Amino acid sequence: MAHHNPWPDEGNTGHIWDEDIRELDNPPPLWWMLSFYAGFITIVFYALYYPTIPLTNGTGQFTKGVAGWTAINEYHDDYKVLKDWRVGKFADKEEKLASLSVTEIMKDDELKSYAVATSKVLYGDYCAACHAAGGAGNPNFPVLADDDWLWGGGIKQIEATLINGRMGNMPARGLMGNLTDQEVDDVTDYVIALSEGKGGDAAYAAGKAVYTKGMCLACHGPAGKPLAPAGAANLTDHVWRFSSDRDTIKNVITYGVNVKKNGEYIEGTQKAVMPAFKERLPNPEVNIKRLAVYVHSLGGGQ
Ligand code: HEC
Ligand code: HEC
Repeated sequence: MAHHNPWPDEGNTGHIWDEDIRELDNPPPLWWMLSFYAGFITIVFYALYYPTIPLTNGTGQFTKGVAGWTAINEYHDDYKVLKDWRVGKFADKEEKLASLSVTEIMKDDELKSYAVATSKVLYGDYCAACHAAGGAGNPNFPVLADDDWLWGGGIKQIEATLINGRMGNMPARGLMGNLTDQEVDDVTDYVIALSEGKGGDAAYAAGKAVYTKGMCLACHGPAGKPLAPAGAANLTDHVWRFSSDRDTIKNVITYGVNVKKNGEYIEGTQKAVMPAFKERLPNPEVNIKRLAVYVHSLGGGQ
């Protein structure tokens, strides 16, 4: 950098390199100055308008801004716009679901698919905890995706199950409650044989007689298959409501299902209660039908 300045009048800063490269003291161009001021004004505006400046009082708080803006409010506003849009778009379908009966809904393919498509979240929130995703069932909670129904797989029957709930009743030790331990053992073997298609074998004659004596047929049907769905399990298939384990089966026959004494479950009885949903679901007039159509679609609807 030279100390001698050969261009004293051109307004340079006196910084000179390589003999003649000078730093001039010109004002910045107008466009640049305007952007600079605009940027500055924007910063001041933002700082006042939005929550910005941390307070030094150690509370982790900050200035709130004059607009009252928060990220969560913005999210709620956007969400409302989306929701209003959806309500508007699907209003006619929702109205149809509300006004038509489930039987009518089943005849309208488009409405049926709409009901199924809009059921998944509802099913996840209210049903999956017991019946598992897709109706796959859990131990002690029946599979909904097969065609083995306790209470019937017709659309009206499924709807009734959802509205009022269901609770199977099986008395302990036969309909009259008078089976001995030996008889319970024999009928347990017979029931297992039934599920294996061997109910007619002579080896199970004793158990078969107990099946008649205990009036099991009143609910489970003369051949182990209920004549009409009223909550009793089909004993001839491989679908076990509780377990295929012999001890569990024997326990069910010994202590029954949902047996109460003085309003309390007796010890050992198998509990099996499907809650009523007419008051549990939001918007039940529509959502019960929606879910009934969904359950029916899972594969086993009749
Ligand atoms: C607290 C657990 C629980 C919840 C939650 C529940 N269920 Fe159930 N559900 C049961 C039980 C237990 C049974 C079997 C009742 C019986 O054994 O008689 C059942 C039975 C049923 C049946 C009859 C099955 C048949 O074979 O006839 C249907 C249909 C059904 N549930 C659908 C639903 C739907 C849809 C929902 C969600 C709205 C739901 N359940 C929520 C426990 C539950
Ligand atoms: C009043 C009707 C009724 C009578 C009588 C009855 N049951 Fe049941 N049984 C039921 C019901 C209801 C269930 C439970 C179904 C459910 O909730 O899943 C059931 C369940 C069972 C199960 C469990 C099935 C499974 O899939 O896990 C067996 C085994 C059984 N009964 C055997 C018998 C035998 C043996 C007798 C006669 C000694 C008998 N039941 C008498 C109604 C009856």
